[in-house]
Amino acid sequence: MVAVITGGASGMGRSTAMLFAREGAKVVVGDVDDAEGARLADEAKAAGLAIVFQHTDVSQEDQVAALVARAEKDHGRLDTIFNNAGIEQPVTPSEDVTEALFERVIDINLKGTFFGCKHAIPALLRNGGGTIVNNSSVSAFANVGGNLSYAASKGGIMSMTRVIAIEYATRNIRCNAINPGVIDTGMNRRNLEKAADPDALEQKWRSITPLGRMGTGDEIGEAVLFLASKQSSFVTGIGLVIDGGRIAT
Ligand SMILES: NC(=O)c1ccc[n+]([C@@H]2O[C@H](COP(=O)([O-])OP(=O)(O)OC[C@H]3O[C@@H](n4cnc5c(N)ncnc54)[C@H](O)[C@@H]3O)[C@@H](O)[C@H]2O)c1
Repeated sequence: MVAVITGGASGMGRSTAMLFAREGAKVVVGDVDDAEGARLADEAKAAGLAIVFQHTDVSQEDQVAALVARAEKDHGRLDTIFNNAGIEQPVTPSEDVTEALFERVIDINLKGTFFGCKHAIPALLRNGGGTIVNNSSVSAFANVGGNLSYAASKGGIMSMTRVIAIEYATRNIRCNAINPGVIDTGMNRRNLEKAADPDALEQKWRSITPLGRMGTGDEIGEAVLFLASKQSSFVTGIGLVIDGGRIAT
């Protein structure tokens, strides 16, 4: 399997890249964090895993196009893309969200996913088909407030996922999303650092999650692998909720 993973230098993208590579995939990772991207590529090389890194800002269409082109150039095809890059919105009362903040979150999370889908589709068609996995969030369905632009971006990703699933179903492209709950990554470590009372916030996350803990990047990677591979051959247009039971409550 030849895979492109955006935002793969850290967090769940990194876990997914390592898991895919351990399963034998050739992985092309794009991220804005060059230091972490290089560290990932070095670690993979030392372990004999096929992961290369290419600087990519997903809000820039030419850079996303170049990332997909790299996979085809290096490996002759593309089988799957995990549109994972995303940023949080600092907790902000909705009436105080500036246009600049809204646009930044939408540009990276929603427009970045659009560019990933747009440029992967022709490559997947040239390959005779393949899969797209988009990283949405439980925020598309369930929220705690103060994250207007983030939730809007993740709801948009769910809609985009369904459109692509329907449009390309007969051309052998399946498109699904994942909806992670609270996962232990850099994003949530930053959220904790910014919180007035980090202990209370961590306790709140546990209390809204029936399994009573944060999920791990590896647990997300396993779900992405399922949706990217033929194990999920009759699955398209869904959002797979991976949230320790949160939205069941
Ligand atoms: N952590 C959670 O609880 C949680 C829950 C639901 C969904 N998500 C989603 O998971 C995805 C991954 O986040 P994470 O939790 O692993 O956080 P993370 O911060 O560890 O990873 C995000 C990665 O995206 C990269 N990135 C940021 N802006 C970028 C850009 N413009 N172009 C390319 N790469 C960029 C970062 O450098 C980083 O490596 C995001 O889309 C996030 O919204 C996270």
